[in-house]
Amino acid sequence: MNKNVTVFNHPLIQHKISILRDEKTGTNEFRHLVEEIAMLMGFEALRDLPVQDVEVKTPIEVCQTPMIAGKKLAIVPILRAGLGMVNGILALVPSAKVGHIGLYRDEETHEPHEYYCKLPDSIEERTIVVCDPMLATGGSACAAIDFIKKYGGKNIKFMSIIAAPEGLEKLANAHPDIQIYCGHLDRCLNEHAYICPGLGDAGDRIFGTK
Ligand code: PRP
Ligand code: URA
Repeated sequence: MNKNVTVFNHPLIQHKISILRDEKTGTNEFRHLVEEIAMLMGFEALRDLPVQDVEVKTPIEVCQTPMIAGKKLAIVPILRAGLGMVNGILALVPSAKVGHIGLYRDEETHEPHEYYCKLPDSIEERTIVVCDPMLATGGSACAAIDFIKKYGGKNIKFMSIIAAPEGLEKLANAHPDIQIYCGHLDRCLNEHAYICPGLGDAGDRIFGTK
């Protein structure tokens, strides 16, 4: 496995992903689980956030103690399904700025099409967490990261809850400089480019559409 790729094998994450997969899991529970998994993954993905010592007076004495430094974080969900992960990461870093990239996959060609892009200012100075629950062919993730780099983004992490081997390989090859975090690596894509066993259409399951 590429050293820039982390696949989580934590039992709490695996347990929650198993509930997500279940077709009987309803919208409300699905949304909560996506948020919780994003928070658990974010805890690990953000372990290298830069810190700097600040002076704090405790009831006992004055000390130097670390706090998150600099321009901090930008969270960039890929619309729509990535939106479901934002609050989980914001729970860890409430001061993060949030950008949005709108992409949809053509149902026949499976190619991504952009319809929206708005990123926080000074994007080049930020740690950027791009999130999307599904990494299938990898087309959407690659296109999103192409955009972010075009706008100057450098320190980029990508988080998906479920990845297909095809998409993971494509993303890691296209962007060898980014860190990739996956909750689980599934078996393969089917003929409609859906992940098997996967969880179906993440956007529809988060937003209750069909
Ligand atoms: C889904 C998913 C990813 C993309 C993954 O979005 O949320 O963005 O497909 O597929 P890929 O790796 O083959 O590009 P979709 O295009 O269905 O849009 P939605 O989130 O608005 O439902
Ligand atoms: N997008 C999804 O939401 N699910 C898949 O399995 C593939 C792409």
